[in-house]
Amino acid sequence: PASARELHEEIRALARARDAVILAHNYQVPEVQAVADFVGDSLQLAVEAQKAAQSTIVFCGVHFMAESAKVLNPKKRVLLPNLSAGCSLADSITAETLEDWKARYPGHAVVTYVNSTAEVKALSDICCTSANAASVVRSLPQRKILFTPDKNLGRWVAAQVPEKEVVVYDGCCPVHDVLRASSVGKARAGHPDAVVIAHPECRQDVVELADEVCSTTAMLAAVARHPAAKTFIVATEHGIVHQLRQRWPDKEFVVADGCLGCRMHCPYMKMIDLVMVRDALVRGRHEVDVPPDVAAGARRALERMIAVPR
Ligand code: 13P
Ligand code: SF4
Repeated sequence: PASARELHEEIRALARARDAVILAHNYQVPEVQAVADFVGDSLQLAVEAQKAAQSTIVFCGVHFMAESAKVLNPKKRVLLPNLSAGCSLADSITAETLEDWKARYPGHAVVTYVNSTAEVKALSDICCTSANAASVVRSLPQRKILFTPDKNLGRWVAAQVPEKEVVVYDGCCPVHDVLRASSVGKARAGHPDAVVIAHPECRQDVVELADEVCSTTAMLAAVARHPAAKTFIVATEHGIVHQLRQRWPDKEFVVADGCLGCRMHCPYMKMIDLVMVRDALVRGRHEVDVPPDVAAGARRALERMIAVPR
């Protein structure tokens, strides 16, 4: 079998030859992050996909992200190297459930986190990511908001924008929602001077003790706000540590679950390896498509989100 280095070279040559751009999320395995043209959070990846000039986008992330890339840049071929890479949070709400919720809350603007299917986005007024959720909610003329599907992000946004009345759906990300303040406390006991950085998909008890709450990419900049700190406890999926260590080689990063060997781990984000990226380019698989009527609705909600100033 080819070595990781050989696969890396082969993938880079294939991407050039086949006019492809490789996008990767911050939670991907380090070797996939290393072979990508661009690594970022959900908002950055959506914007990169929207402006991609290449004819093919290889999306190393999860299905809803590849779907958004296709919706935002429909003339391009979008490939997801492993079709099984889903997202439990996106699966927590269907179009039918959202229709029921909308009927229960008339007059509410529907704000949907991008961790959702294109069908659900198409039924929403606007999308948001963890990087822009508060700005999106603030930008709306309506005071009453129905926020789907992540209850933790929704609750955090409601606290940031107290002038709005926010009803929150009951979904969550199991990777973040299992973390408790007591576990972060244990990690902190070993590093009393550490700064805690949490993703807003974490529960309220975790977010309340965090020094910084932000999207995955914003964590890279958050480190700069604490120049005296040597150690950072990171309350999100452990894949981000690769980016953090590259950007800040002199700092120490500890994943927050305080339990050796069971770091916060998203199985879906780890379903793509270098062989799959190579095969995606060689065989043109797996192409992600969205029916035109669904795509039109999802595009409206995504483009409206991208237009919101942060
Ligand atoms: P970011 O947009 O902050 O990268 O988060 C994506 C995600 O899936 C978090 O679980
Ligand atoms: Fe979905 Fe959670 Fe994985 Fe993010 S970490 S992709 S929200 S299951």
